[in-house]
Amino acid sequence: MQNDALLHKLYQLNLLRKMGFEYCDAVTLPSKTETVDIGSASLDELRKAALACHLCNLAKGRKNVVFGEGDPKARLMIVGEGPGASEDEQGRPFVGRSGELLTQMIEKAIGISRNHVFIANVVKCRPPGNRNPEPEEMEACRPFLDKQIELINPEVILCLGGVSFQALTGEEAGITKARGKVYEWHGRKLVPSFHPSYLLRNPSAKKEAYADMLTVKELLDLKR
Ligand code: URA
Repeated sequence: MQNDALLHKLYQLNLLRKMGFEYCDAVTLPSKTETVDIGSASLDELRKAALACHLCNLAKGRKNVVFGEGDPKARLMIVGEGPGASEDEQGRPFVGRSGELLTQMIEKAIGISRNHVFIANVVKCRPPGNRNPEPEEMEACRPFLDKQIELINPEVILCLGGVSFQALTGEEAGITKARGKVYEWHGRKLVPSFHPSYLLRNPSAKKEAYADMLTVKELLDLKR
């Protein structure tokens, strides 16, 4: 570095120290070989990249990245909002109370095993206090979701809750207005339905959710 540039850097560092910033230990940045080009990644490489991601604030508070799980060639992909406390603890999607209800919806109403679908979320790290993910958090995580959808290549996507529906489609409608219809989305069928956490708080909406599951079943052409 030229002397002038070096002096300028020292001046800036001194200024930052006066403003109250402190020195910290050296940060190890990932080497080039550890970074993944998401564009050509396999599902496994994508998972590794997500596990190492620090692109938004949610990385600071997480215990585990919840990448998603299930059949990598699933015909049905389910997209929730973001991990809750149990999911953050275990690193798996929908394992808490809402997960129990979701498993019942998949197995009893749609009629397939949970292992035969792929379950993911709009954001892969837990928003603190179970708040909705912020737009910049969803934006930072979006390449992971888009690549998951591309690699799994499902025929049908079931969006759970308004956040998932709005994030995927860019539509503004809330879930009560959006559900009950099948949307064409990038050559796939998209079915919005209530989030299982909402159904736990509002059991009377289970009737409509059941109808949505039957729509999914029909789209997959499964025998009733
Ligand atoms: N709620 C979600 O949206 N996703 C989960 O994985 C768990 C709860």
